[in-house]
Amino acid sequence: MTSPFPQSYPSTRLRRLRQAGWVRNLSAENSVSPSDLIWSMVVHDGEEPSIPVGSMPGLYRLNVEEAANAARRASDLGIPAIAIFPHINPARKDETGSEALNPDGLIPEAIKAMKAAAPDVGIICDVALDPFTVHGHDGLIDGDGYVLNDATVDLLRQQAVLQAEAGADIVAPSDMMDGRVGAIRAALEEAGHVNTMIMSYAAKYASGFYGPYRDAIGSASALKGDKKTYQQNPANSDEALREVAMDIQEGADLVMVKPGLPYLDIIRRVSETFAVPTIAFQVSGEYAQIKAAGQQGWIDEERVMMETLLCFKRAGASGIITYFAEAAAKLMHD
Ligand code: PBG
Repeated sequence: MTSPFPQSYPSTRLRRLRQAGWVRNLSAENSVSPSDLIWSMVVHDGEEPSIPVGSMPGLYRLNVEEAANAARRASDLGIPAIAIFPHINPARKDETGSEALNPDGLIPEAIKAMKAAAPDVGIICDVALDPFTVHGHDGLIDGDGYVLNDATVDLLRQQAVLQAEAGADIVAPSDMMDGRVGAIRAALEEAGHVNTMIMSYAAKYASGFYGPYRDAIGSASALKGDKKTYQQNPANSDEALREVAMDIQEGADLVMVKPGLPYLDIIRRVSETFAVPTIAFQVSGEYAQIKAAGQQGWIDEERVMMETLLCFKRAGASGIITYFAEAAAKLMHD
């Protein structure tokens, strides 16, 4: 944008506004605070309180009790919401991901424990089958390994209602099936969960940046092939606007762009075009990169962490899902 006023040196010296911390703060266009963060958390169905995830240093799979403790810490830190992702015992996985529909399964148990521990913290649940299927895909597959759209949507609506029943505040379909937001919205209305929000993974790309996550939830070794027939092509930007438009039309309350940092242009376009809450997901591979370089001493981890969070805000995100939520919130409180 060009200024309507002529600006020329030396009447204008832009460095004047950068000379001291107080004036840099005063003239800052964007800021990040704990209330912008959604804590991305992996829960598991074992006894062990916490299990480190090799490809994500500093991240632990938590058992239900530890997840409840973490929810209390989120409340104390002013983190508004937690997004939970399940790692289940591989013996409970099958072709159709039937454990996703177990009302006494890991996710319903975790939701209940976390809501009891910290009722003021929002709980967000992924709606997708990949943590529960032996093949690691987000939906049902046919004999050729193709992920079936409409049959999958039918299961996703049941999974979403089950999560709402257990007390989830937001259901977040991450599967990229066509029509799933509308189907889930209708199912929630029918079941009386009229206030359950939908955060759609609207523009979710087929990305290499999800590698460590699949390790974290234990679907990496299972996954056959890739997800390119349902997730978006990284080459496309207009297509993201079509995805978002449809999801809003179908009843999404918040929309998400994923991955985060390599897709800031998409966040900008979506937030400007639709003026709905636009959430960025700083995914596992982004976290792992920062952690790894930080551990090597090649970058200042804390500084880069905070810079990336601010960049999401500058791009137009109204919130950021991140594995750094607790660390970042603590740093902001110090
Ligand atoms: C799948 C799902 C994925 C993530 C969240 N939900 C991975 C995938 O699509 O394979 C990625 C999260 C991350 O990388 O941090 N339903």
